[in-house]
Amino acid sequence: PAPGWAIAADVVVVGSGVAGLTAALRCEAAGLETVVVTKARLDDGSTRWAQGGIAAALGEGDTPEQHLDDTLVAGAGLCDENAVRTLVTEGPDAVRRLIATGAQFDASTEGGLALTREGGHHRRRIAHAGGDATGAEISRALVEAVRARGLRTVENALVLDLLTDAEGRTAGVTLHVMGEGQHDGVGAVHAPAVVLATGGMGQVFSATTNPSVSTGDGVALALRAGAEVSDLEFVQFHPTVLFLGPDAEGQQPLVSEAVRGEGAHLVDADGVRFMQGQHELAELAPRDVVAKGIMRRMQEQDAEHMFLDARHFGADMWEHRFPTILAACRAHGIDPVTEPIPVAPAAHYASGGVRTDSHGRTTVPGLYACGEVACTGVHGANRLASNSLLEGLVYAERIAADVAASHADGTLHARVPAPVPHPEQPAHPLLPPEARFAIQRIMTEGAGVLRSGESLTRAADQLGRLHAEAREALHDNGKTAEPGVDTWETTNLLCVARVLVAAAAQREETRGCHWREDHPDHDDTTWRRHIVVRLNPDRT
Ligand code: SIN
Repeated sequence: PAPGWAIAADVVVVGSGVAGLTAALRCEAAGLETVVVTKARLDDGSTRWAQGGIAAALGEGDTPEQHLDDTLVAGAGLCDENAVRTLVTEGPDAVRRLIATGAQFDASTEGGLALTREGGHHRRRIAHAGGDATGAEISRALVEAVRARGLRTVENALVLDLLTDAEGRTAGVTLHVMGEGQHDGVGAVHAPAVVLATGGMGQVFSATTNPSVSTGDGVALALRAGAEVSDLEFVQFHPTVLFLGPDAEGQQPLVSEAVRGEGAHLVDADGVRFMQGQHELAELAPRDVVAKGIMRRMQEQDAEHMFLDARHFGADMWEHRFPTILAACRAHGIDPVTEPIPVAPAAHYASGGVRTDSHGRTTVPGLYACGEVACTGVHGANRLASNSLLEGLVYAERIAADVAASHADGTLHARVPAPVPHPEQPAHPLLPPEARFAIQRIMTEGAGVLRSGESLTRAADQLGRLHAEAREALHDNGKTAEPGVDTWETTNLLCVARVLVAAAAQREETRGCHWREDHPDHDDTTWRRHIVVRLNPDRT
């Protein structure tokens, strides 16, 4: 059998959203030989779908302290206050550096940054671009900068596993690459520092705002490598996702919080506003409160969705301020200028992920994580709207500084060539791609926006059966699904789904975006703590 290919670098960045490309640009600027690998094209991740914007205390009268307060309240008692303080104090300058890199944000009539509001924010502090196309503009600017700096990139490269040396230190990653000429097939990038910036895992559910590439690859890799993962039970369901029918699957169009920030109302089928009286901020309450408000009203009225009414914006405002959302609604036959938009919650963001310290270091030496794949502690039980792009920026910069310092002082060990795995010999049982839909259905029914001990036990059993079947096929018959991107993605989805369900079952309380019907209250005595998981690499 032919061996795979291998290249070497000082640092390999896995993922190409705001976190990955920021980390890569800063590492390169620090003189490190940097390689970016990404599963699809450079701009195919979640970043380019971000609408509302990026939160930072940039407005007159706003302060990092106020941003900190709003973040801690949204996080429902589980934020790491020091991590949040770092985020909000370093955030404004990080946004200014992003602007210096080339991102163009919308300007106010006075010539400063135009700032909007979103759920949980007591101030206008969300900078946006192209009206509601903030992520697309950030992605454009960063991709252009990466190309202008001539950074080495490998696209269509699905990361498989972490390589480690005899002492358990990071030595690179293995990848499955499709159609990249000299780097086709399974190979490796050898590097003493690996930055995971692979994004989220929304595809673990049937309906999500996440693109199809968000399959939890980074968290699955970290679990297989024996790194600690934390807070996976806290999946955020965005309250206002365009409702396309009860059986809609895959990526669904988002209707940004910023639409409510500019004055849209949530109403039921009778046109009655129902968030007033539930929270002092009504429609602008933190995201979990609004999602629950919608779900409750849907249950009371046996309805499949609620409505977001912004007809009073008028055509001009819709066209200029929210062109992306307007186009998406119209593409589905809904005109927000003349009719309310049908909306329902859908999976949106993983608040948990690979556990890191304040420099983005995971528990495996040389392995870093930033962006949605990471759990830095800033989001707690419920991420504050528009803090995610900011977290990606701030912590990517901190990682680059740490990698550069460790490189300079010799703490990062020299590159150790590691064996390249052979494609016909997967280290763990692989699932057939068709299992993806079964996983999504099981997760949506058992571990979705409403959970109970019973639904979670059922989900755990069903997922366990899928895992057992794959294991038996490999161990008893030496058979496994044909290795390929779909197969590995499905295997990763199952890996993260099982840990997520186990954590959700263990947390017998309702907190933030984790909503247990059988434990409707929060329990500070037992549960003001994190569920940290570290798998034995032999048992994945
Ligand atoms: C939105 O535009 O509503 C999304 C903002 C976010 O997820 O932070």
